Amino acid sequence: MNRSQRKIEHLDNALLTGQSRESGFDDIRFIHQSLPDINVDDISIQSLIGELKFSSPIFINAMTGGGGKQTEHINGQLANVANVLNIPIAVGSQMSAIKDATEENTYKIVRKNYQNGIVFANLGSEATLEQAKIAVNMIEANAIQIHLNVIQELVMPEGDRHFRNALNRIESICNNIHVPVIVKEVGFGMSRETIDKLYNVGVSVVDVGGFGGTNFSQIENARRLHKYDIFNDWGIPTAASIVEAKQARPSVMVLATGGIQTSLDIAKSLALGASAVGMAGQVLKWITEFDEEYTIKNLNLMLDELRLIMTAVGATNINMLQQVPILFRGEMRNWLMERRID
Ligand code: FNR
Repeated sequence: MNRSQRKIEHLDNALLTGQSRESGFDDIRFIHQSLPDINVDDISIQSLIGELKFSSPIFINAMTGGGGKQTEHINGQLANVANVLNIPIAVGSQMSAIKDATEENTYKIVRKNYQNGIVFANLGSEATLEQAKIAVNMIEANAIQIHLNVIQELVMPEGDRHFRNALNRIESICNNIHVPVIVKEVGFGMSRETIDKLYNVGVSVVDVGGFGGTNFSQIENARRLHKYDIFNDWGIPTAASIVEAKQARPSVMVLATGGIQTSLDIAKSLALGASAVGMAGQVLKWITEFDEEYTIKNLNLMLDELRLIMTAVGATNINMLQQVPILFRGEMRNWLMERRID
């Protein structure tokens, strides 16, 4: 099966597989404050990621590209949504266009439909510095995401089996590219140890891509007879991964992604220390099962609700929300107790 066919099957299977609620957010509670002493109008939801200013703390995460007209159409729609809401958007892995220039339009449509917006390029950690530069230039990207997807490769019989030197390549890209570098997972989360390694080679923004949302082990297994289901429940829940990242390196900017579905998930991510949140599977579902308008309406609703939650906890901006007290129970509490640094 070629890369393009695989992309289209991924899209179909992502819709079939759906998202679980195992991201850890349901084990977190805000502590109610009866005297918040602010008005809803006081709330600012602007967010700063390094030198990039986000008008709100959400972005559309990497999904698609390559695969011809179908993915070009979806990318065009996603870019229109980002344009209306003025939120950042990442394209899917650009390796297919680097290998076959006829696929470039499926990515360039994003810049075409969102000329002045924040757009992230995307490549896997097998990419060289030269390829990273090509990916950034292809769509005049404002930043580049480098994805880590070991489990996704392992569950594919035709997947990559070589994972050496990824950190060296990431270091070289960080040191030699003129845009910010975001290293991301794709749904299995990042541990303290991983964050530490990335930080040591100069990575200052990570997207934890935690467990509990789109599950690439299940997606891959859904399309084959012999199933490697050993990895179906593998991964660090998103909420736990945010904590791991902030505990490992408090100065690392964390983008919370993996199973973000509601305004409460967004608020809890920020309260755990994330600077912004990204959504992939949920947005794809809205746009393919409904349309752009429905997707915009839902994202706007989430932002309105976020303002209400911030009012209830007395946080006028994202910085204040990052400091509000929260409580952990259940699996999240177990995770934090087991991983406590003494
Ligand atoms: C993805 N994701 C992804 N990530 C990446 O870095 N490069 C890519 O090309 C893709 N492709 C892709 C295709 C499809 C159909 C989906 C649903 C997702 C992963 C994505 O960016 C994100 O990390 C995970 O999906 C987890 O977030 P959600 O879906 O739970 O919000």
